[in-house]
Amino acid sequence: MGKKVNITKIQYSDFQKYILLFRFSEISALFRKKYALLPGSSNRILKSLKWKHSSAPFEMRLKDKVALITGAGSGFGRASSILFSREGAKIAVVDIDRTSGEETVALIKEKGGDAFFLKVDVSIVEDVVSMVNETVRRYGRIDILFNNAGINPLGSVVDTSVEIWNRTIDVNLKGVFLCMKYTIPFMERQGGGSIVNTASINGLVGLYNEAAYDASKGGVVLITKATALDFGSKNIRVNCICPGVSDTPLMRKYVEGSADPGRALKEMGDMNVAIKRLIRPEEVAYTALFLASDESSGVTGSTYTVDGGYTAI
Ligand SMILES: NC(=O)c1ccc[n+]([C@@H]2O[C@H](COP(=O)([O-])OP(=O)(O)OC[C@H]3O[C@@H](n4cnc5c(N)ncnc54)[C@H](O)[C@@H]3O)[C@@H](O)[C@H]2O)c1
Repeated sequence: MGKKVNITKIQYSDFQKYILLFRFSEISALFRKKYALLPGSSNRILKSLKWKHSSAPFEMRLKDKVALITGAGSGFGRASSILFSREGAKIAVVDIDRTSGEETVALIKEKGGDAFFLKVDVSIVEDVVSMVNETVRRYGRIDILFNNAGINPLGSVVDTSVEIWNRTIDVNLKGVFLCMKYTIPFMERQGGGSIVNTASINGLVGLYNEAAYDASKGGVVLITKATALDFGSKNIRVNCICPGVSDTPLMRKYVEGSADPGRALKEMGDMNVAIKRLIRPEEVAYTALFLASDESSGVTGSTYTVDGGYTAI
């Protein structure tokens, strides 16, 4: 057994006390420098956090905002529409597929939310112009634009037909361009807004046999950065999300078409190497919610991976 020492009885010489005091103020100054605190400000920050925390359960994160979400009939778009509505936003549910889009609206209304459906092909100028005008006519403004509609055909450059190439670039990249092009002027007039684009891990690294898709998503990553630079001074933020392999109808289509769907599903999940499972739609929706909300007011031109570690190695 070691000898017990009562530390309260330790006697320090004046010199030792001076050294201890010096070290303490040095560490405290370093801490203040690192976190940019002024003397006494830590208390103020703690008080403000306490205030925020105490009111948080009653605050909706998108209260009174208007969100326009494309590809909202399925997968990430549907999960985000429901989540954004739960957080207080009115939703323009946009999709090329009327049945699934109207289902999303019904799911929102069932829970007391406010939403309406617009049948739109995001690659067609006239569709996009009337989508923006109709949303502004109904709700008066567009605070959030979530450009999420997309298609994912497979093929190398040799296997990809010119038609498939054109369609992929038209929906995935030109669609994002058009929706931003016609929404941003409204956002400028109303004093700002937040745009979130769905890119992909395919926009950051190449994947086998997805030449057109990779090219389109790489374009989405860079049009996000370019637009963030061009409109930051107008209080318009633009960010993108790069999901890994995710459990949505788009991905299930490939799994169900394979010889051994169970095995294919497991292999797809394993591709997200760190967590070894598929990304869930609501995990992308929560990232979109953060980027759409004022919580991310300092974030623009960013690329958020939600990929279970896919691009970490
Ligand atoms: N599922 C994945 O593993 C994954 C991974 C990374 C990125 N993404 C991207 O996420 C986005 C959403 O994909 P998802 O997995 O939820 O797919 P999904 O197929 O479940 O949903 C896509 C929705 O977009 C709609 N759509 C397609 N073309 C359209 C058009 N021209 N105009 C308007 N709507 C159109 C579809 O009808 C569908 O409702 C896409 O951009 C996709 O490329 C998906």
